[in-house]
Amino acid sequence: MINAGPLILRRWKLSDAEALVRHANNRKIWLNLRDRFPYPYSEAEARSYLAQHDAHSGAIRNFAIEFQGEAIGAIGLEFFTDVNRLTAEIGYWLGESMWGRGFATLAVKAVTAYAFATFNLRRLQATVYEWNPASARVLEKSGYTLEARLRDYIFKDNRICDALMYAKLRD
Ligand SMILES: CC(C)(COP(=O)(O)OP(=O)(O)OC[C@H]1O[C@@H](n2cnc3c(N)ncnc32)[C@H](O)[C@@H]1OP(=O)(O)O)[C@@H](O)C(=O)NCCC(=O)NCCS
Repeated sequence: MINAGPLILRRWKLSDAEALVRHANNRKIWLNLRDRFPYPYSEAEARSYLAQHDAHSGAIRNFAIEFQGEAIGAIGLEFFTDVNRLTAEIGYWLGESMWGRGFATLAVKAVTAYAFATFNLRRLQATVYEWNPASARVLEKSGYTLEARLRDYIFKDNRICDALMYAKLRD
C-alpha cells in the first residue's frame, strides 16, 4: 500500500466491483487504453478483473487508486521480457469525475518511485496516443522524457494514429 496525499494506492478487493464499473465504464477512458480494456465495462468484466487481482501474493503490480474510501481508478505496471526485462510499462486511468485535480500525477509519481525501489528495473515507459495531451502532461510533470513519436503505431477506434513514447530511467 502507498499513501500519496489524499490517495491510497492499494490492492484490489472483490468489493470494488460497483465502484470499478461506475468509474471505468466510459468511452473516453477506453479510447486512450488498449482494446483489452472493455467498453462497455460490465459488472461481469469487473468481477473477472477483480477475481484475477484480489489477494495476489507478492509485490503489488496493479493498484486500485482509492479516494475517500472508494476505488476511483487504476495504475499498474506491465513487465517486458527477454532483452527488455529491465523495462516496465506504466498504465493508469481515473474516473472522469476525478479528472483535473492532479490525482493522476500524484499516482504516477508514487508508483514510479515504488517501481524503482521494489523491482529490478532500469526503465519505465508509457506510450500516449497522439490525441491525449492530458496524459502526456501527467508524464512530463512526473519526470518522464518524450523520446520519440512512433508514427502510425496505434490502430484504435478504427483510426490510425501516432504514439508518443515517454520514459524515465532509474536515477
Ligand atoms: C489522463 C488522465 C489519467 C489524467 O488524469 P488527471 O488526474 O486529470 O491528471 P492531472 O490532473 O494529474 O494532470 C492533468 C494535466 O493535463 C492538463 N490537461 C488536461 N487536458 C488537457 C488538454 N486537453 N490539453 C493540454 N493539457 C491538458 C491539465 O491542465 C494538467 O496539467 P497542469 O497541472 O499543468 O495544469 C485522465 O484524464 C484519464 O484517466 N484519461 C483516460 C485514460 C488515459 O488516458 N490513461 C492514460 C493512457 S497513456
